[in-house]
Amino acid sequence: MARVNDPRFWEDVYARGGDGWELGGPAPPLVDFFTTTTLDGRRVAVPGCGRGHDARFLASRGYEAVGFDFAEAPLTAARALAARAGSTARFEALDVFALGRAHPHAFDGVWEYTCFCAIDPARRAEYVASLAGAVRPGGWLLGCFFPLRGSPAGPPFPVSMDEVRRVLRPAFRIDRDFMPLRSVRGRQGREWMVLARRTGA
Ligand SMILES: C[S@@+](CC[C@H](N)C(=O)[O-])C[C@H]1O[C@@H](n2cnc3c(N)ncnc32)[C@H](O)[C@@H]1O
Repeated sequence: MARVNDPRFWEDVYARGGDGWELGGPAPPLVDFFTTTTLDGRRVAVPGCGRGHDARFLASRGYEAVGFDFAEAPLTAARALAARAGSTARFEALDVFALGRAHPHAFDGVWEYTCFCAIDPARRAEYVASLAGAVRPGGWLLGCFFPLRGSPAGPPFPVSMDEVRRVLRPAFRIDRDFMPLRSVRGRQGREWMVLARRTGA
């Protein structure tokens, strides 16, 4: 598992075209959520942003979106795609475990998609603590957790609803959770949306 802690692992995956998660556009569960709902605040962090499609989408909805990744190749692509689209989304090279220290309480919200399942599963509580450090009290965490089933030989490393509920506490309180109506092929029935609020804890 330790190999996924090293940005060189991800650089290598991108270099050999092993990025089978690439959607070429924003994640359908994110798009669908913001079709019916607006979340408060302006500043949104997107950890493990890859080529930044979700960050660009959030920027198009009026948020000041900042994508974070520690692999250079997707960040270079994300910046180029944003420039081409005239998007205000910004991108920063950062290890997501340092997000809370680097940007204390700087964000009104976080969009989590396919970063939770990419990191070392033994570091999930540490990851949530980092996100909690970056979000202001009362701010939100919108997450689409994937894959609910799958091989333990990730990434992606499987997630369970029980584990997500457990690691989000006590820093976040889950307000809503549901199965997204629309997932891309191969992810149907394996994604779970959670809207949680940063507590005072
Ligand atoms: C499975 S990809 C998903 C990318 C993007 N969210 C998407 O859906 O297209 C995981 C991304 O997280 C990044 N990543 C993994 N561990 C990270 C860490 N500790 N800090 C920053 N980025 C990380 C990888 O470089 C990769 O771009």
